[in-house]
Amino acid sequence: MILKALFLAGGMGTRLRPLTNHVPKPMVPIMGIPLLERSIGELKQCGVDEIVLSTCYQAHVIEQHFGPDSRNGIKIHCVCEEKPLGTGGAIKNCEKYFDDTFLVFNSDILCNFDLKALVAFHKRKKADVTIASIEIQDPQNYGVIEFDPEDTILSFTEKPKPGEEKSHNINAGIYVFEPRVLDAIPAGKKVSIERDIFPMLLKEGYRMAVYRGNSYWIDIGTPKKYMQAHTDIFEGSCHVPENDFKSAQIYGRENVDLDPTAKITGPVWFGKNVHIGANAVIGPNVVIGDGFEAGRGLEVRNSVIWKNVTAGSGVSFDHSVVTSGCKLDSGVQCQNMIYSPECKLPFT
Ligand code: GDD
Ligand code: MG
Repeated sequence: MILKALFLAGGMGTRLRPLTNHVPKPMVPIMGIPLLERSIGELKQCGVDEIVLSTCYQAHVIEQHFGPDSRNGIKIHCVCEEKPLGTGGAIKNCEKYFDDTFLVFNSDILCNFDLKALVAFHKRKKADVTIASIEIQDPQNYGVIEFDPEDTILSFTEKPKPGEEKSHNINAGIYVFEPRVLDAIPAGKKVSIERDIFPMLLKEGYRMAVYRGNSYWIDIGTPKKYMQAHTDIFEGSCHVPENDFKSAQIYGRENVDLDPTAKITGPVWFGKNVHIGANAVIGPNVVIGDGFEAGRGLEVRNSVIWKNVTAGSGVSFDHSVVTSGCKLDSGVQCQNMIYSPECKLPFT
């Protein structure tokens, strides 16, 4: 079956700052590859041949990276909002692209969901909307879904207060829509799909089903979860197609110039064109991005370093994220920090 998909990629990424100072949240790199690129790559498995990227905040970064173009045979359209329309308004704004069953994704999700099974479930249920869901311990920062034994949705509670959650099943930010649902969304207005439209659809009697996923799922909406995603990939609980990260190893790309005195404890992932001086101690759980240059005595553990970072001699990183273009003077010790070229913040 041929399908189209929509990515909601226009959010401000506020909770992920300063990682989102120069890139929108969907473009944050996960093991060196922008999250959105990874998500688009996953779509081949379920026959998607055309996607729409709904952008707003730092839209140019997404547009420059993707389109208008096609990738792996998938045609890409970018639709930029002048002002944020909210998640519901953004979907309505892309209405003209969809005339058959389509997928909708939040763009901050890294998961191993079986999308083919999700779409098949939606068809079997003859639903107007199917919402993928996962079960989590603490659902307060998510949309909680209450449903019956037939997986028919009964209620939504977005970001419930402690004690108010009716289940531990949350909206996983992945939906299957029938295009007729778009008629129910007001045009040109800021509306939230989760707070305004889903509850309204329920009231109006649309068929809404929940698909309970049981594979890996994380949203990378905060720095802590951004780091967690990398740990999960290294541990093998999150599968990424380019590597089997189950064993503690060293994953190198092209042109990694490492002094022979370096002590490396896997897992460590290297980008390309990396130069590291003598007596480095690297790993475990380290991601070193393209163009990294470090002097003598580098120490780096449990950290993610983006592209084109330079470090003088004796620099150490522990449990830190360093964004693209940072320049660290000799002797700088980064512990539990997020570094960006304009600021450094403690990791919370
Ligand atoms: N185009 C556009 N315009 N996109 C938007 C806008 C907008 O005005 N506002 C948000 N988005 C995009 C974001 O970029 C993100 O990919 C997605 O919509 C969801 O926004 P978030 O800001 O990440 O929402 P959330 O994490 O608080 O909650 C959502 O995701 C949870 C799962 O991670 C909700 O869907 C919850 O119900 C859900 O549980
Ligand atoms: Mg989110």
